[in-house]
Amino acid sequence: MVDDPYAMAARAADWLRARGPAPRVCAVLGSGLGALAERLSDPVVFSYADIPGFADVSVTGHAGRLVVGRLGPDGPPIAALAGRVHLYEGHAPARVVHAIRAMRLWGAQAALITNAAGGVNPTYRPGDLMAIADHLNLTGQNPLTGPDDERLGPRFPDMSAAYDPELRGILLATAREQGAPLHEGVYAGLLGPSYETPAEIRMLGRVGADAVGMSTVHEVIAGHHCGLRIVGVSCITNMAAGLGNAQLNHDEVKDVATQARPRFLALLEEGLPRIDAALACA
Ligand code: HPA
Repeated sequence: MVDDPYAMAARAADWLRARGPAPRVCAVLGSGLGALAERLSDPVVFSYADIPGFADVSVTGHAGRLVVGRLGPDGPPIAALAGRVHLYEGHAPARVVHAIRAMRLWGAQAALITNAAGGVNPTYRPGDLMAIADHLNLTGQNPLTGPDDERLGPRFPDMSAAYDPELRGILLATAREQGAPLHEGVYAGLLGPSYETPAEIRMLGRVGADAVGMSTVHEVIAGHHCGLRIVGVSCITNMAAGLGNAQLNHDEVKDVATQARPRFLALLEEGLPRIDAALACA
């Protein structure tokens, strides 16, 4: 698969196309944020084990299924990817981005990419949500290394607006109308799986990060490269190392993501239909 990422993604896309048309919007749901998939009306559920090239997903809090359904009885269809693979599990970058490429080749136009993240910006609080305006890829890896395949995208993709400003603006406006604060900030993606040291967090703050996590950046690079319009949302589940008193652990991350669930769902259940409508007019 790593040898021919296009062929693998095309196989998955063909498999999906044989089972139904692609929604305009797909969503990658991070740790503790899978509830959106459970709220879709008329759901059609595919296990990752059945979709060509979709790895079994091992991290707890990730279910490993693709749910296609409507956002509300009259809402637009979306494809929700509940569960993702991470570099820290030992997967090659091409495998980490296989699902997002498959979504694009199936026919999706935009991807909402969500994650649980630590707050680096000292004004943030656990439970806050942040629209990702930009990222720092500090993993030392890039999913586009190796031979370029023009069928996926160009050799040197421009990253100056990888997070789509128009679609982000729709989410920010939705949050404003809901009276629910939504930060706008920079996500630093690190390899993990150890959490950061306090010194690393001080460094990240100085170089402009507002939040830190172990996912997202490769999916965004590959998704943008193959033509998906990207929207990113972080759920701040904890203050990053050295900024809070609590010890960091994955159970806390999932617990806080669960507490933030009503706000997260409200934002997306109202924001995604608007994003879908904007894509329909584009
Ligand atoms: N650091 C890295 N990844 C994370 C964190 C964190 O503090 N919280 C949730 N994911």
